[in-house]
Amino acid sequence: MPPYHPTAPAPGGAADAPDDARRRGRVAAAAAAVCLLWAASAWTAGHLHTDPALHTVALFGHLAALVAGFGAVLAIDYYGLLWLLGRRSLREVVHFTSPLHVPVWGGLLGLTLTGVLLEPHLDAGLTQLKLVLVLVIALNGVYAGTLHRRLAAYGERRPPAPLLARGAASALVSQAGWWGAVLIGFYNTQH
Ligand code: HEM
Repeated sequence: MPPYHPTAPAPGGAADAPDDARRRGRVAAAAAAVCLLWAASAWTAGHLHTDPALHTVALFGHLAALVAGFGAVLAIDYYGLLWLLGRRSLREVVHFTSPLHVPVWGGLLGLTLTGVLLEPHLDAGLTQLKLVLVLVIALNGVYAGTLHRRLAAYGERRPPAPLLARGAASALVSQAGWWGAVLIGFYNTQH
């Protein structure tokens, strides 16, 4: 994350081109890893059978991972809201939210690993929708990471409107995905 300097060229200038190519490569690799892990977990879920005791432990782990992952997502978005309301500077928001990406990714990984042990009914439409939402959440998370880095490069300067609009769209996709997965998970346990 480059430190802010008032005379620094605008992020994304010609001098950044090799860095941009490297960054794009890393983002593509991260997106491919997400898709691979997602497909592998769905395949494994269809082949695993757990006894009731392991099921209970996995359900507790599922809820603990939900608290860590979604809790961190809510904290990030709440800080984004404070910035929109003028209560925090962009620099403060970027600084506060940077370390929260660890519990977000850790929670999502935990939800996936424990979810596999919960024997999801992969032939049910709602469960399929939930798994698609999980993939969308993860890919959107990779994209949000790139947006975070680009926003951080602006320091105290106001980022351009299109970049802010992409940040807002990514936050909305994330909220819709997480709430959708929570609702489907809860509904599935009731039916
Ligand atoms: C963003 C990711 C996820 C969220 C927010 C989420 C959320 C939830 C919630 C709230 C429940 C209800 C728990 C209860 O009422 O006690 C649940 C249950 C469940 N989840 Fe997830 N989940 C996620 C990912 C996954 C994944 C990736 C899988 C499978 C690979 C999965 C499989 C299941 C199953 C099978 C249940 C039912 C458990 C049972 O009643 O036996 N979940 N989930």
